[in-house]
Amino acid sequence: MLIPRLETQELFGKKVLVRLDLDVGSEDFRIIAARPTIEYLISSDAKLILMGHMGRPNGKHVSSLSLGNVAQRLRRLLQHEIDFIHEVSGFVARERVDRMTEGQILLLENLRFDPQEEGNGDVFARELAALGNLYVNEAFAVSHREHASIAGVPKFLPHVAGSRFFQEVENLSKVFVSPARPVVVIISGLKEDKLTYIEDFKKFADKILVGGRLPDFVPEEKKDEDPKIVYAKLNPDKEDITIHSIEAFEAEIGNGKTIVVAGPIGKFEDPGHKLGTERVYKKIAETRAFKVAGGGETHKAITTFGLEKYFNWLSVGGGAALEFLAKGTLPGIEALIH
Ligand code: 3PG
Repeated sequence: MLIPRLETQELFGKKVLVRLDLDVGSEDFRIIAARPTIEYLISSDAKLILMGHMGRPNGKHVSSLSLGNVAQRLRRLLQHEIDFIHEVSGFVARERVDRMTEGQILLLENLRFDPQEEGNGDVFARELAALGNLYVNEAFAVSHREHASIAGVPKFLPHVAGSRFFQEVENLSKVFVSPARPVVVIISGLKEDKLTYIEDFKKFADKILVGGRLPDFVPEEKKDEDPKIVYAKLNPDKEDITIHSIEAFEAEIGNGKTIVVAGPIGKFEDPGHKLGTERVYKKIAETRAFKVAGGGETHKAITTFGLEKYFNWLSVGGGAALEFLAKGTLPGIEALIH
């Protein structure tokens, strides 16, 4: 997959439109992941126009979801001045961009305040594109969405991937392109829609372990249909999996040479229900397998148990990482390679 990279570009004085993952919650992980790209652009004397979204405001202005709330965190983490405007596009934005000098950073308002972002129409994509000379996708976590800032803008501007984006693709690809076997995939958590990925994962996985609340959404008679899939049994309160299931998961993980984890095993924030997540994650950490993890809750659980350093790759993406593993590509990748 030939993804054009930022490092190949002449950047001095260029207006660079950078799509970031600013849907950050309480963790700084996604900002820290994008920091090398931002620092590279600053040191290359580009003019940085940062754009992102937060939450799901449904095309309306919701003050609690303003990116103004993230500007302060960006300043602290980047140790750099950042201008913020309440606009996404239009005259004010264009006029402000025209006044920028080399190394300056301007942050635009939450793109999803404008319904055209999710609508992905060409008019809006062109308007965003008009702000810059180059587009950088450093928003892997939202690259499964066919939205204007992901799939539309690259149609109208030279476009490249940021270094984090590139590394995401490179590392996650190792799970399905000639992986070390057996490949063990653990899908877990609360969201029923994760179950829809199982069919695609079966193409490269040798074992799929299903935990969290997910086994509850599958009819009992279906659970024995495929020996590749191991459904956990849940404790009566459904907040964790049983000891027997923990042991069954540990045994499969012990054999794994490539391991993917997407979702906590139980309600790990709660001391009475953390056992499944703690034991399963520690078992993963102990193996010599190539280990990747994705998703906000998964990341939180890994840091809660202090296991970050044992993983080969912690993806910034939740849904995007799953979608990439399932389909082998994403709308955001397709937009960069075409
Ligand atoms: C995420 O947090 O996973 C991304 O920002 C995508 O958010 P979305 O599911 O609201 O599109």
